[in-house]
Amino acid sequence: DLYGPERRNSRGLDLSAPDVVESLLEQVAVAGNECWCAAASAGGDIVEGSPRALFSPADPDDQTGEVHEADATIAGKALELAAAVAPEWDAQGGVARAACLLRAADLIEAQMPVLMAMVVREGGRTLPDALSEVREAIDFCRYYAHCASEEFEHPIVLPGPTGEQNTLELHGRGVFACISPWNFPLAIFTGQIAAALAAGNAVLAKPARQTALVAGRVVALLHEAGVPRDVLSFLPGSGAEIGRILMADSRLAGVAFTGSTGTARTLQQQLAERGGAIIPLIAETGGQNVMIADSSALIEQLVRDVIQSAFNSAGQRCSALRVLFLQDAIAGRTEQMLSSAMDELRIGDPMHLSTDIGPLIDRSALKGLEPHIARMNKEALRLKRIDPPRNLPGSFSALHVYRIRELAQLDQEVFGPVLHVIHFSANRLDNVIEAVNATGYGLTLGVHSRIESTWARVCERARVGNLYINRNMIGAVVGSQPFGGEGLSGTGPKAGGPRYLHRFATERTRSVNI
Ligand code: SER
Repeated sequence: DLYGPERRNSRGLDLSAPDVVESLLEQVAVAGNECWCAAASAGGDIVEGSPRALFSPADPDDQTGEVHEADATIAGKALELAAAVAPEWDAQGGVARAACLLRAADLIEAQMPVLMAMVVREGGRTLPDALSEVREAIDFCRYYAHCASEEFEHPIVLPGPTGEQNTLELHGRGVFACISPWNFPLAIFTGQIAAALAAGNAVLAKPARQTALVAGRVVALLHEAGVPRDVLSFLPGSGAEIGRILMADSRLAGVAFTGSTGTARTLQQQLAERGGAIIPLIAETGGQNVMIADSSALIEQLVRDVIQSAFNSAGQRCSALRVLFLQDAIAGRTEQMLSSAMDELRIGDPMHLSTDIGPLIDRSALKGLEPHIARMNKEALRLKRIDPPRNLPGSFSALHVYRIRELAQLDQEVFGPVLHVIHFSANRLDNVIEAVNATGYGLTLGVHSRIESTWARVCERARVGNLYINRNMIGAVVGSQPFGGEGLSGTGPKAGGPRYLHRFATERTRSVNI
């Protein structure tokens, strides 16, 4: 059963087994010394000329590679080729497209160590995060491949009470632009492309500027797996420039975007202004994600889940916990235990397996947090601050926990390792839920409560895409926790869910009088 409990994801590696870790680290270390190169491409045309150098967020002296970025000419060429070839790719049917994606999954799996090294060095992610990303990329390819074979190969036969033969079939829309973020440089990049391709679209892949190297490697693997070059072009470069060119073109049939709410708005506006067909924007954006813990919560477990949710990946996940609501009865003890547990966290070089928290993606992300930290230092009570070791050269951030009075004090998402705590009294749970809904965001929400009626009430009322009860609230698993938000958090697609591909497709009804 494709969607049921029997379905299995990729196994990954056991990072608690010393021999597995030793061999992995050896391979990662070899790859870690390489200088990688990626080049924009439109079909067989590859951009040459003066490349842009990329450096590791963990060490500004570590040049990870070079990227030859796309310009207007190559973007235009890519669009032209994609528009010409899209119908043919769609006509191949779901099974043939799935075969390419299944081969791509195997190639990604075989390249696990080098892809992990790229994610760590280029994206600043820790080794366990990098492993999860490789697995997620593999799982997206396989999952969408199965969806394509099941749903895009044969039409659904419908009743024909008046004697006609009625069928309903799914098709690709045409050319899709896939615009992905740096925080999951491998998984989200691969997931968007795999979905768009599986549904029968030609794809223009625009990776985040900071993480073009690993993206380029994935594109090469997809080509090697049999995705024709004209069907998948690679357009690294300035988001503003490439985005403007693509959004203005009437040959574009859809956009998949993961990133900030502000950029999603800009894309929507550009699409509205371009004229021509009205096309879908599939957006997965930010969150003002809350966890609510009542007096029945198990504090040890709560603290562990809070730390993972708020500080894993240095808080650079759209799913990350930003605001922890603690019921008065447990607030003092929880804060104390949280503070002590945070002392154990190791901020450092993500290439070391013992590192819990790596750097922010770049200096400008670090600088971007400063105004908020300065404001919190004035307006809030600082409960905890952990500085990174002094000798670290990269863009490492301190970890902060602040107690604030109310959610309305936070006007926007703070994308980093800053946790806010708010106390609430037992009879105010409904007000908490109202405040969460009033933010307008709706991505993830956690509840720690052993009282079923309490968490059930939260689940019923909260308008968020992913609810997590008595566990952490990050790391959605393909096929098990389809992921995506509503409101300011996105247009609601569920990546890794059974209906995701439909967002990339159009339906056609055929009625034949036989
Ligand atoms: N899917 C990621 C998570 O669940 C966020 O993009 O953490």
